[in-house]
Amino acid sequence: MTRAPTLTWSSYRQSIGDRSAMFAAIASTWDVDTALYPGCYLDLSPSAAIRSVTYLDIDPRAARYFADTELVEAELAARPEARGDVDVRFLHADYTDPLPLDEGAFDLLISLYAGPVWDHCRRYLRPDGLFLANASHGDASLAALDPTLDLVAAVHHREGRYRLDTADLHRYLVPKNPAAADAALIRRNGRGIAYTRPAFAYLFRRNAKMLAGSRAE
Ligand SMILES: C[S@@+](CC[C@H](N)C(=O)[O-])C[C@H]1O[C@@H](n2cnc3c(N)ncnc32)[C@H](O)[C@@H]1O
Repeated sequence: MTRAPTLTWSSYRQSIGDRSAMFAAIASTWDVDTALYPGCYLDLSPSAAIRSVTYLDIDPRAARYFADTELVEAELAARPEARGDVDVRFLHADYTDPLPLDEGAFDLLISLYAGPVWDHCRRYLRPDGLFLANASHGDASLAALDPTLDLVAAVHHREGRYRLDTADLHRYLVPKNPAAADAALIRRNGRGIAYTRPAFAYLFRRNAKMLAGSRAE
């Protein structure tokens, strides 16, 4: 009987690439010490740059990988940019359920190809925290319509390199078809909409409207 190959971050990187540089760019520009990554699968790249990351996935293969703490530590230690004080946590859970996490605990919430993370996990983000999302499953498109979020950067990805664009952000998230920019429609389709100037992902920050709203509650 042949054994299934061990699933690792390094093997997963062969299909999705290495996002470490994207997280390094984010963490060196904004104050990011803690992150929550629902629907992470085997993508360990945030820990190459962020001290404490809570990963979460419902897939047992992700649970098996993160349970092997020696393997996770070895994969991080093999990185040239490895830092010594890394804290990697994993929750084998469905992010649509209530999670054993403190509200407002995280500096950064990550949503990459993993469904409606913003709808279910925003409560765990600190009041002025950052939300990184791509448009694939609709999260960036929903964030673009959310008045409590401001776009602070567009993330470009080309030939394995990442670049943050923080200038003239009004050029981004302009729908090709304005009628498609409808939150109910985006939720129903589970897909993002097309923009005149696309990017790999978008970084948003919670704004004063959100703070004012929560004070009024
Ligand atoms: C397409 S993969 C993306 C993985 C990774 N974020 C990436 O960008 O490569 C989507 C992951 O989200 C997880 N997922 C989807 N819905 C989930 C849910 N409700 N709770 C927890 N994990 C979920 C799946 O198990 C899967 O591992």
